[in-house]
This record gives sequence, C-alpha cells and structure tokens, in this order.
Amino acid sequence: RRHLLGLQDLQRDEIELILDHAAEFKKLQQSRVKLDHLRGVVVANLFFEPSTRTRTSFSLAAKRLGADTVDFTASGSSVSKGETFIDTALTIEAMGVDLVVIRHSSPGAPEMLSRHVKCGILNAGDGTHEHPTQGLLDAFTMREKLGSFEGKTVTLVGDIKHSRVARSNIWALTKLGAKVIVCGPATLIPPGVERLGVTVAHRFDDVLQESDAINLLRVQFERQRGAFFPSIAEYAHLFGMNGDRLRRAKPNVLILAPGPINRGVEITPDVADGPNSQILQQVSNGLFVRMACLHLLARRQQQLQEAR
Ligand code: CP
Repeated sequence: RRHLLGLQDLQRDEIELILDHAAEFKKLQQSRVKLDHLRGVVVANLFFEPSTRTRTSFSLAAKRLGADTVDFTASGSSVSKGETFIDTALTIEAMGVDLVVIRHSSPGAPEMLSRHVKCGILNAGDGTHEHPTQGLLDAFTMREKLGSFEGKTVTLVGDIKHSRVARSNIWALTKLGAKVIVCGPATLIPPGVERLGVTVAHRFDDVLQESDAINLLRVQFERQRGAFFPSIAEYAHLFGMNGDRLRRAKPNVLILAPGPINRGVEITPDVADGPNSQILQQVSNGLFVRMACLHLLARRQQQLQEAR
C-alpha cells in the first residue's frame, strides 16, 4: 500500500504486520540502538486541526528513524491568504517531501489528497472518519497486556457518533478477533453501528464486568451540533469511569483513553492516574506504531520510485 488512510481497508495480516513491526522498534529503542531506517527521507506534518500527541509523536518517530521533518500548521500559513488545501499540499510536496502526515477536520481529506500527490499519505485524523494510528496504538497497547484478542471483550464508551477513534478501534479490534461493545447514550451512538460487527449497550454498568479493556472516548464538545444530551453531569454519572466502577470491574481491566481527556467527565482523576490506566503507555507506544507506519510506507515509496 502507498498510503495509510484508514483501517477499514486493511486486512488482519496487514494490521498484525504493523503491530509486529512496532514491537520490533520498541525493543530496538529499549536497547538504545541508533536507527537510520529513514535516512534521506523527508516527512511533512500538515496539521489543519489542533494536536498535541499525534503531531509530536509523528515528528519524533520520523526523527528517531533519521528522517528530515517539516512541521506545518494551517494557522500562520498562506492558507489564511486563501491558498487552497490541494495547492498547499502540492507546494509542500514540491520541496521534495516523500511522506505527508495529515490531520484535517473534513472526513476524506487525506483520501482526496492521495489522488493529487505522488508522495505517501498518512491519515492523522480526518473529521469524524478515522484516526488509524490511534486505532493501531490502542490495539498495540491492549495486545501487549492481553496477549491475544481471542475471547477478549473491549468496550468503547461514549461519543461513538463523532469519534474517528471509535471507528478505527472498531475496524482494528473486530479484525483482530475481539468482541467489541460500544456503549453510550442513544444520542451518541450512530444508527446501524451493529453492521460493523459490534454489540450496542446503553448502560455502562451492564457491560462493566465482562470488559477486559475499556476505551473511554472523549466527549467531543467541538463536534456537537445543537444541544448535547445528556448534560455533562448526567454523562459523568451514567458513563464516566470512576473509582466505584473500577472496583466492580475485572481486577486487571485495562483503562484506555485516546486523550486529551476531560477529567471528571469521561474519567475521574483517580482512575486516569491509577494502576489500571494505560493512558501514558498508549502515548509511549504511539511512537513505535508511527515509526512502523512511516518505515513501511517509506519502503513502499522507495520501491515505487525505483520502478518509475
Ligand atoms: N489522541 C489524539 O489524537 O490526540 P491529539 O489530538 O492531541 O493528537
């Protein structure tokens, strides 16, 4: 594949290849071996939406592999003078860029870009569509702790409707063999989501005890159209992960959150900072997953350039 646009189109063995490759990079980094897999490769980070984790992680992953990096944010760029999205990308590509990492508020923006440029595209989150490297790093973190997904239940809690993380988690985890439950108020569960192979629950307490891992999605206040129902206080009461719920869950349940977290809404600080929390482990693992994705796509890009 030339691009990483989402996990929907990836086969199980392709997902496993990325996770295995990430595990190799994790081992190499622990032994502090200097890596140069991307020497001579130029990676551009094009972020049209805010980011802390993903942008920093991609940038660091590229540098750890010896690539040159360019960081572009829409604010302060010629986008403010009316330059189009495609013209912006073509301009950056013309500087000799091999791989473009892109975050955009419009679903499908990375796919559209992939039809206009020769370089490889990595989707770093497009609107409510997909966030493939988040889905991969979540799966990596769970697989590392659970061993395998066979017979395991992963519950995604919260704003499924607006969550690109939920979609990428669903594609990855169902393909890897997990039972996936999506749980949230009816207003935040998209109709027909069962067709993606998941089970729907509207009461968190009903699915708490069977969950081996719980991924707490952020309530995306910025993507809510009109009234948000239930209220934030009701949401925290009905769907928030707190100390009481943790005591009723499996003792070793993994608590994940893609971040940024709304402390006191989807998760209370004692759980976010407690022993079951994988939140910072997810961030650390994200680096290795992105190293793997960048390396695999750079290799493919090199094959294509040699064939031209
Ligand atoms: N999880 C995630 O995508 O975080 P950022 O928005 O900070 O990149």
